[in-house]
Parts: sequence; C-alpha cells; structure tokens
Amino acid sequence: MAYYLSIFREDVLVTLFLIGFVTLLPVMNTKPSTFLQDFQITWSDSHIKQLDGGKGIQLLLDQNSGCGFASKKKYLFGRVSMKIKLIPGDSAGTVTAFYMNSDTNQIRDELDFEFLGNRTGQPYSVQTNVFAHGKGDREQRVNLWFDPAADFHVYSILWNHQHVVFSVDEVPIRVYKNNEAKEIPFPKSQPMGIFSTLWEADDWATRGGLEKIDWSKAPFYAYYKDFDIEGCVTPDPSACASNPTNWWEGTSYHQLDTIAARRYRWVRMNHMVYDYCTDKQRNPVMPPECLDGI
Ligand SMILES: *[C@@H]1O[C@H](CO)[C@@H](O)[C@H](O)[C@H]1NC(C)=O
Repeated sequence: MAYYLSIFREDVLVTLFLIGFVTLLPVMNTKPSTFLQDFQITWSDSHIKQLDGGKGIQLLLDQNSGCGFASKKKYLFGRVSMKIKLIPGDSAGTVTAFYMNSDTNQIRDELDFEFLGNRTGQPYSVQTNVFAHGKGDREQRVNLWFDPAADFHVYSILWNHQHVVFSVDEVPIRVYKNNEAKEIPFPKSQPMGIFSTLWEADDWATRGGLEKIDWSKAPFYAYYKDFDIEGCVTPDPSACASNPTNWWEGTSYHQLDTIAARRYRWVRMNHMVYDYCTDKQRNPVMPPECLDGI
C-alpha cells in the first residue's frame, strides 16, 4: 500500500493532469463555434450583426443592400451544418441562400440550399441544386413541413465520396449519388467554401417572379447560429481520401440508413413540389442521374 501511494509523486500527478487536459481539449473545443472562428463577412458589414457573443448572427435586407458571409477556408468533403431562422411574415421576393462553392468559374462545383420567400401564410420553398464539373440545372424544390421563420432549424450538407446529402433537421431532402461509374460527374476534386447570402430576387424567386418584394415590410431579418463545419481542410485531394479516419467517410455514411431512407421517401412523396428530373419541358430525355432511383 505504501508503495502504491508513493507512485503518485507530484511529477506523476502533474503528468496525469496534463494527459487528462490534453485528451479533454478536443471536447472543450467542441462545435458549434463562433461565427468569426470559421467565417467572415463578404458583403455589407453594416447589414450583419453578431449576437450572443458571436455565437449567432443577424442578416438584414433592405432597399440599400443585402448581405453575405463566407467560410475562411475551403474544404474537400465533410459536413457543414447551421441553424437558421428565416424571415417571418411576408418574405416574397427574398432569397436566403446557404451553399458550398468551389469558386472556380469554368468547372464550378456547387451545392445549394436556397430558401425562397413567400406571401404570408404560404409555404416557404427550399430549392436545392447540384453543380458538378460546371453543369448545374438540377433544381429540386420541397415545401417545408414547418414554419421555418417561427424557430431555428438545422440545415446541413454531408459530402463524401459516395454522395451528397442535403438535410433539414436530420431529414434528408436531397441525395446526389456518386455515379461516376456511369460517367455522371460528381464533385470530387475541388475544395469548396461555404457561403451564405440574403438578397432580393423578386425577378424569379416567388411564383416565378410574379410576387414582388413589399418594401414597406423592410427591413427583413434572418438569423443564424450553431455554425459547425467538419471537413478536410486542404486543397490536396489525396489528403482527403475516402478512409474512415475522416468520420464523414465512415461506412455508416455511405448510404442512407433505413430510418433516413424512409424519411427521404416521405419528403419526396409529400413535400416535393418541383423536380428537374420530371420536368419534360426542360428535359425531354430524363437526365441520367435521375434514372438511378432514390
Ligand atoms: C408560394 O405560395 C404559392 C401558393 O401557395 C405556391 O404556389 C408557391 O409554390 C410558393 N412558393 C414559391 C417560392 O413561390
């Protein structure tokens, strides 16, 4: 017993304390982070206000300007999520966007969430789009099954070597699979930044541009918090391999699990209002990625 106690000399205790401290660090460092840790304002400083010690922000749109922010870094694969509370009441003509973009003009890769405002009492639509190797035109729209302006909801994009999954409160609303084997492009070689903007787009956003912004209701406010980016921060594709040391590449993220798949079918059957796959006018021949099922 005496020997046992004597082991706990002061220096040992200090070492144990340090080990404990170091192993706890990642936990203490845990997400969500503050806005300025991972993001910066890119458009109209005066229209973005930090709240709650920088853990949240308020975006403002008025007749002078909209506003926007972007991640400081680019990521190749990973998952990004944030909580957003959209403009309440009459938001027709406004668009709040949350997207990832390679920022390369020619062969742009882009993953879009666009929240299209509407007149009071009418549903908000969420439009998603996927650009791979410069080709977009893959819009889908779902009407949300809750009022996204009444409270915060989680919007996330998971991007790994198998697929891209857009989710709302853990409910997948869009899946774009890696079908490179069938020669369908998949974003895989360019890192993407994370962006968000609030702006006016009343030439197209609401009922195809029929509904204009009612500026007497301005300014319009949207709120964001709980920023969480987990991804491979490097421009080198080989360093962002599909190995599961990057958790988003783990086998459980290779496809939707049973519950997620059931939720996804529920969204598609009950809340989908537009799908480029079935728009015969735009696509007389169904785009190849649409033939793969959900
Ligand atoms: C707005 O509401 C109208 C009427 O319910 C609906 O047709 C439309 O799809 C909604 N969303 C947008 C973005 O126009």
